[in-house]
Amino acid sequence: MGKKVLVLNGSPRKNGNTAVLSSRLSDGASSVGADVESITLHNLDISPCDACDYCQENENGCIIEDDMQILYPKLRDSDVVVIASPVYFSGLTAQSKLCLDRWYAMEEGDDFELKGKKLALLMVYGDSDLYSSGGITVILALENICRYVGMDFAGIVHGTAMDIGDVEVNLLGWGLKYNFSQLIPGLPLDIAAQILFNNFEAIHPDTEIKTSNVAFNVHASKSFGALIVYGGLQYESTNMDYTYTFEQLGMPELDDRIDISVAGENNMRLTLGVAVKVAVLAFNVDYNIGSQNALVAGINFEF
Ligand SMILES: Cc1cc2nc3c(=O)[nH]c(=O)nc-3n(C[C@H](O)[C@H](O)[C@H](O)COP(=O)(O)O)c2cc1C
Repeated sequence: MGKKVLVLNGSPRKNGNTAVLSSRLSDGASSVGADVESITLHNLDISPCDACDYCQENENGCIIEDDMQILYPKLRDSDVVVIASPVYFSGLTAQSKLCLDRWYAMEEGDDFELKGKKLALLMVYGDSDLYSSGGITVILALENICRYVGMDFAGIVHGTAMDIGDVEVNLLGWGLKYNFSQLIPGLPLDIAAQILFNNFEAIHPDTEIKTSNVAFNVHASKSFGALIVYGGLQYESTNMDYTYTFEQLGMPELDDRIDISVAGENNMRLTLGVAVKVAVLAFNVDYNIGSQNALVAGINFEF
């Protein structure tokens, strides 16, 4: 089971820079085995902490019945929490701050339920650097919060981006499939081989995230009227490269460009499944046996 990563996006812009960067971070983390959940706080109903102190007096959590009651179990369950937020008026957005204030109710005895988890910050701002944008106050605030609740401050991805689209995203995927049945007439099964490539890049002057995935598979299928039974063997390999500037706060001459390459697990996967064709629809269910087993169901249009 991969690490559980909870991304809390505090931007109100659906396709804004925070959304683009955090979805790339999520894709990158998923591709190396993490179990990522991304939540847009703007879509939730989160009230401000009203300082009733019920949580402090009863240790029963927060008494306010709103969407934080959905987030509390997710926070407890996560290994890494990513606060993804633009800088607004030299601080976090109100959406992010409302959520963070309500962590107050996660105190249990002498500790917080968040103790030992990692916290990372993904932050964008319109101004040119951490000081003029006010982003520095966000970093200081989160470092303090980590000390207070016992979390590890795992890292910061930050950079300048003002308008939607300032963060460049490239996605290229292609595949090639060859059906061997046409070579060997009379073969009782349909046998095909396929190679697939996927490259993804999110490029920003300060930060680059690149992931690549290669998969090769051979699969066989046999039709019994509308029912198709199929199986296959697939090899997958995934890599993530991550480049950013590590800033020594207040000492820009010591800024360092960091390159991290993460090689995902190279996996063999065995798939066994059945599909039923009904007019232009094909319903399929398959079981995948690999480093993580999965049951997959789907509906395809076939012309
Ligand atoms: C209300 C408001 C306040 C802002 N305050 C700041 C600020 O203090 N410093 C800064 O550098 N950028 C500021 N910005 C710019 C945003 O941080 C920037 O546009 C960012 O890319 C928005 O991220 P998003 O696309 O994910 O929403 C502000 C933007 C808005 C709408």
